[in-house]
Amino acid sequence: MTEPSSTKETAVEPSSGHAFSMQGTAETASVEPRLETEAPMDSRETFVPAPSPPGDTPVARAAAVAREVMAKRGDREWPRPAKTRVITVANQKGGVGKTTTSVNLAAALAMHGARVLVVDLDPQGNASTALGVDHHADVPSMYHVLIEDLPLDDIVVASPELPNLFCAPATLHLAGAEIELVSKVARESRLRRSLDSYDKSKFDYVLIDCPPSLGLLTVNALVGGEELLIPIQCEYYALEGLSQLIGTVELVTSHLNQTLNVSTILLTMYDARTRLASQVAEEVRSHFGETVLKTVIPRSVRVSEAPSYGQSVMTYDPGSTGALAYSEAASEIAHRWAEVAS
Ligand SMILES: Nc1ncnc2c1ncn2[C@@H]1O[C@H](COP(=O)(O)OP(=O)(O)OP(=O)(O)O)[C@@H](O)[C@H]1O
Ligand SMILES: [Mg+2]
Repeated sequence: MTEPSSTKETAVEPSSGHAFSMQGTAETASVEPRLETEAPMDSRETFVPAPSPPGDTPVARAAAVAREVMAKRGDREWPRPAKTRVITVANQKGGVGKTTTSVNLAAALAMHGARVLVVDLDPQGNASTALGVDHHADVPSMYHVLIEDLPLDDIVVASPELPNLFCAPATLHLAGAEIELVSKVARESRLRRSLDSYDKSKFDYVLIDCPPSLGLLTVNALVGGEELLIPIQCEYYALEGLSQLIGTVELVTSHLNQTLNVSTILLTMYDARTRLASQVAEEVRSHFGETVLKTVIPRSVRVSEAPSYGQSVMTYDPGSTGALAYSEAASEIAHRWAEVAS
């Protein structure tokens, strides 16, 4: 882990549901104590910090918060689950951070010694890209597993990202699977079947990244998983469509997979400069209570840059706000399970 640099993104919002910002705007909630995390995406180059007393600069305060988070993280051993946890990451709304969340949680868990498999169930193959895994048309992929009964073992490859991190890639063929599945026997349970006949004990976690739809691929992921993680973007339409997703989950639990449980909601792309973000976070917490992780993922340039280097932000810039936040979120996920299991 690199120490966060004083000029880069530094702090996360570790527990309060509020991140901090140095720059005020017309939209900024004015009652919060403000601590710098990262400059706004568009004004990064032009920002000039106001003079402050030595040792009490926003950057120094942010660095102190980051050090605290990193120290806390390093002090604790993360518990490993007694049996493989299969976590489906789904939300039919597009661009809410499903893939970013799958990849970065997987990397954070792998960095703490867990063995992790990311199943890429999205024809876009974004998770495969972010994990640096080849997914051109000729690569054996989740399409072959779902449609041609190829064993998962034949397609799982190591990610060059981290030693304990693996990926079952998606190729564009998977787009056709949505239609081809319709006429297949047990069309909703094909992923479940292949996971059941696969030696999952090799992994502590299997994370399934879903496409932005409630079609058969997502249904397969819901039937195949035991836990559902829903990323919710902190913006105006955040809750739109959520009732539809919950409705689908209820159908799945009553007919196809009783063990499925909405275990985790993660607030993503939190922009501390806007009232809207904190309003959305509050609203989601009031509806879903403890299911919502305390950690929120801030909007961060580093997070969005990482995939273009075939990396997670965890390795691309481990001291950045995004990496620290995903690490905290992964730690919460690992510890929550341990509390439930004990
Ligand atoms: N915390 C963040 N800060 C800044 N950008 C982010 C953050 N999280 C995600 N992004 C960017 O937002 C876009 C959408 O994220 P992502 O691809 O993870 O969403 P998704 O839900 O998987 O999308 P899709 O529905 O298309 O599969 C990407 O360009 C990603 O880099
Ligand atoms: Mg995606």
